[in-house]
Amino acid sequence: MIAPIGVAFAVGLLGWVYQALKPSPPKICGSANGPPVTSSRVKLNDGRHLAYREFGVPKEEAQCKIIMCHGYNSSKDMYLPASQEFIDELKLYIVLYDRAGYGESDPYPARSVKSEAFDIQELADKLHLGTKFYVIGCSMGASSVWSCLKYIPDRLLGASLVVPFVNYWWSSVPSALSLQTFRRLPQSYQRTYRIARYTPWLYHWWMTQKWFPTLGADGMFCDSDLEILKRLSGCLNHEQEKVTQQGKHESLNRDMLAILGAKWEFDPILDLSNPFPNNDGSVHLWSSSEDHVVPIELNRLIAEKHPWIQYHEVPDAGHLIIHDAENFEAIIRALLAR
Ligand SMILES: *[C@@H]1O[C@H](CO)[C@@H](O)[C@H](O)[C@H]1NC(C)=O
Repeated sequence: MIAPIGVAFAVGLLGWVYQALKPSPPKICGSANGPPVTSSRVKLNDGRHLAYREFGVPKEEAQCKIIMCHGYNSSKDMYLPASQEFIDELKLYIVLYDRAGYGESDPYPARSVKSEAFDIQELADKLHLGTKFYVIGCSMGASSVWSCLKYIPDRLLGASLVVPFVNYWWSSVPSALSLQTFRRLPQSYQRTYRIARYTPWLYHWWMTQKWFPTLGADGMFCDSDLEILKRLSGCLNHEQEKVTQQGKHESLNRDMLAILGAKWEFDPILDLSNPFPNNDGSVHLWSSSEDHVVPIELNRLIAEKHPWIQYHEVPDAGHLIIHDAENFEAIIRALLAR
């Protein structure tokens, strides 16, 4: 009698573990039980859709065309603090898109840092932006810009990485420096990043369990970030409820796993070279002195190794500089300067 009960128990336990480790299927936009499609989308050659939002002047009138990549837990509907005067002065056209799995863009289980560049290239082509365009990436969205610098440099007019997220396991970063900056993160972040890195199969379960904290906002925002949040009534995105509507695994978790959990196809220090040897474009990296999310030292190191990157360090600012009008304008003007 004992053996069958034991077997039944073991099978039940395995079943439970399997359920806990396996993410539920995504709710794909436009499918029978998924959210509706409400945004413009392009269809990529592999059948996936990318949703986008155009911002600024109509693209036919634009003097500069910029593709912008949002960060973690954000989307194409991120808040941009651009005044109408500023938009008109520069005849600015920005297209923001939901990175794969976010908002209304189809999930892409095979996504990686490399695939981001090709999503951007296809988006540009489907929208007829021309042979060359600018790119800006924010925080985790900056990895898409590193990807563009590596894989489609000849499509770029300029690139800007704003408070770019880092991978603590890039082989080019001295391990003492990685470790020192990693240890400054809250324990809950260290644990979560380690799980993403070493046991990615456990990551979905980890992000759904309620016993241990994971990636909370506590302590991640400096005073100037909190001021920006207050100014915007906590609303950094016009459609926050849509950001993860297809499933947190398809959006947040895959983002983290692609950028932190997996080995990059290239190393931003070892494997990049100046995309503008003739000086017909520029690359900018923006860091903030009070950023608690991204360690400034790692980005400083990348900029030091690449003299062709123009490095900007904003004093008394934190992770949310893109949402601050003054910094936003500075970022755009630097990118477009000739
Ligand atoms: C995503 O952002 C929203 C709004 O700021 C916040 O309420 C939510 O906790 C965030 N989710 C994660 C997983 O960070």
